[in-house]
Amino acid sequence: MIAIGSDHGGYALKQALMKHLEARGLEYRDFGTYSEASCDYPVYAKAVAKAVASGECEKGILICGTGIGVSITANKIPGIRCALCGDCFSAEATRQHNDANVLAMGARVVGEGLALMIADTFLDTPFSNDERHKRRISMIEG
Ligand code: RB5
Repeated sequence: MIAIGSDHGGYALKQALMKHLEARGLEYRDFGTYSEASCDYPVYAKAVAKAVASGECEKGILICGTGIGVSITANKIPGIRCALCGDCFSAEATRQHNDANVLAMGARVVGEGLALMIADTFLDTPFSNDERHKRRISMIEG
């Protein structure tokens, strides 16, 4: 199960991403926002991050205008490794090296086509399980 959320700035891209996940047969839960009315990105970033941190959802996708506000917020939740990505190389590397569990993107930064490719790369790339990466991840918290 993938948790997905956005503020108003990411609403349209969230809708496109959900359609794409559906077409791929991937299950998701939409944590809002549910319209383009102006809203506060921390509300949605916290909801998605908590769903991932609790184990209710395996991974999360967050979108705001820049991707910055949602990524800063998500990374405040213990257990969350949220990566702000604007390219597929970063999306692949953050899964392999950081075992990132939440992807953040900026809807005013990346176009829809690139955003879908970044999301696919993030969702389809496994963690490397290399000892050095496990060690570094364990050093992030605690
Ligand atoms: C909303 O205008 C904008 O500030 C928000 O989407 C995001 O970019 C914040 O980081």
